[in-house]
Amino acid sequence: MDMAHFPVHIEKGWDEQRIESLIHIQNEIIEQFQDVPRFTKKEYEKFPIPVHLHKYIKEQMDFSRMRPEMCPPSGHLNCAPNRESNKVIPLKNTREVIDYVDSTLHSMIEEWTDQQMVYSNMYGVRRYSYGARLALHVDKIEDKIVSVILNLAQKTTTPWPLYIIDSNKKINRIYLKAGEMLFFESARLPHGRQEEFQGEYFDNLFVHYRPLNWDHENIISTDERF
Ligand SMILES: [Fe+2]
Repeated sequence: MDMAHFPVHIEKGWDEQRIESLIHIQNEIIEQFQDVPRFTKKEYEKFPIPVHLHKYIKEQMDFSRMRPEMCPPSGHLNCAPNRESNKVIPLKNTREVIDYVDSTLHSMIEEWTDQQMVYSNMYGVRRYSYGARLALHVDKIEDKIVSVILNLAQKTTTPWPLYIIDSNKKINRIYLKAGEMLFFESARLPHGRQEEFQGEYFDNLFVHYRPLNWDHENIISTDERF
């Protein structure tokens, strides 16, 4: 598959800055796909969210403070003036949720990558709205090396795939159901939701990790174990 032919969508109403950002995203894909070492044999893997964790996060979602997600200056999301915005669903106690999420996922991530990992950050809950897309991208090389996407709830008319391009340059469509999560090498593998979301909502939480002593400016050559 030639990555250059993977569709890139530019929305009506986008300014120069967002279009420039989209070009930057394409550069990051090419560089990081080559430069970031591989950590796992599987590269990505789906798991059920532990039931207690799923229940806890859902209880922590504060719908009374739900608000439109700011349209970032980058071109990752297809938000535009004419389009329904995604939403942010704040958490009632973010610090507590971070501790609970990390205490549950940390050992799983270390087992999955077979090395010591450090919690970096968490984003969300993001509620994708009808018509949403997420451009093909790689995550920030500074600290989002291995990530978890937790799908907490969804109401869709058509299942909405996450596309991941793996080391063999194969395109994979990953379908998460509510209560499922995906571990994946997010700084290396290009991923996105390039098809428009058809449905009412799709609620994701994103949790990011990096290897212990990660130094993105001095990356050692690709691991030869795989
Ligand atoms: Fe990402």
